[in-house]
Amino acid sequence: MDITVAKTAGFCFGVKRAVEKVYEQIDVSKKQIYTFGPIIHNEEVVKDLEEKGVKVINEPEDIEKIGDATLIIRSHGVSKEIYDIAGKSGVEIVDATCPFVKRIHDIVNKESKKGNTIVIIGNKSHPEVEGIVGWVNGKSYVVSSEEDVDLIDENLCKKLCIVSQTTLNYNKFNNLVEIISKKGYDINCLNTICNATHERQIEAKQIASNVDAMIVIGGKSSSNTQKLYEICKEQCDNTYYIQTVSDLDLCKLNSIKSIGITAGASTPKKIIEEVHANVRNEF
Ligand code: F3S
Repeated sequence: MDITVAKTAGFCFGVKRAVEKVYEQIDVSKKQIYTFGPIIHNEEVVKDLEEKGVKVINEPEDIEKIGDATLIIRSHGVSKEIYDIAGKSGVEIVDATCPFVKRIHDIVNKESKKGNTIVIIGNKSHPEVEGIVGWVNGKSYVVSSEEDVDLIDENLCKKLCIVSQTTLNYNKFNNLVEIISKKGYDINCLNTICNATHERQIEAKQIASNVDAMIVIGGKSSSNTQKLYEICKEQCDNTYYIQTVSDLDLCKLNSIKSIGITAGASTPKKIIEEVHANVRNEF
């Protein structure tokens, strides 16, 4: 059996850094540790942290109730309001915001203070975008479709600063920027897409097109794993979506000569290695 494990499988730089920060805090902090929202979309990791005493809060109002505690901000960041509330409540913040996201916060903050209107291309309800909006000083628009572009108030300001959600698709970003450009605004466009997602997808596609079967590992609610599965399935009909090694039905791989393995951004290395070892030992 020929097994290929994607080099880009699993945690991206920002997620790895955030998860490591939580484990670091477990070792050093004398206070109760909270994360603002689950640190990643992976039930195994969240369960393990819970067993080690880490609690999750989800609402800004909860911050005032946790007292003298440590609050960890996850990789996709939060609005300025959250830092302000924590500061007033005496809660210690450990900031695991990915530096690529932090850069967007700084851009929108600076540009909006100059009086420019901010346009964020991305999904309005994604926590990363909600966080970015929360660093704008003034007016901002979140755009995810052509119809959203029409909602930008043309009289408000002719100077626009455009940024993107880090996980956005390049084509979507370019298309929407082109539509906005045709409206005659003075535009300062900054492509803030992070390559990690794109690179993982390209590698998964390339592996899936060369193997007899493909295994995609990731949490059920992970949208980037779902996307990886779709990409692989298009290339290789024998593509299986599993959460952990226990979901793997090895009987299905019986007559197969080559297999590829990839994983979503929130899948821990340990789970990828378990699946890899299981396949290798069986065949
Ligand atoms: Fe950061 Fe890119 Fe991951 S923005 S959290 S390294 S997808």
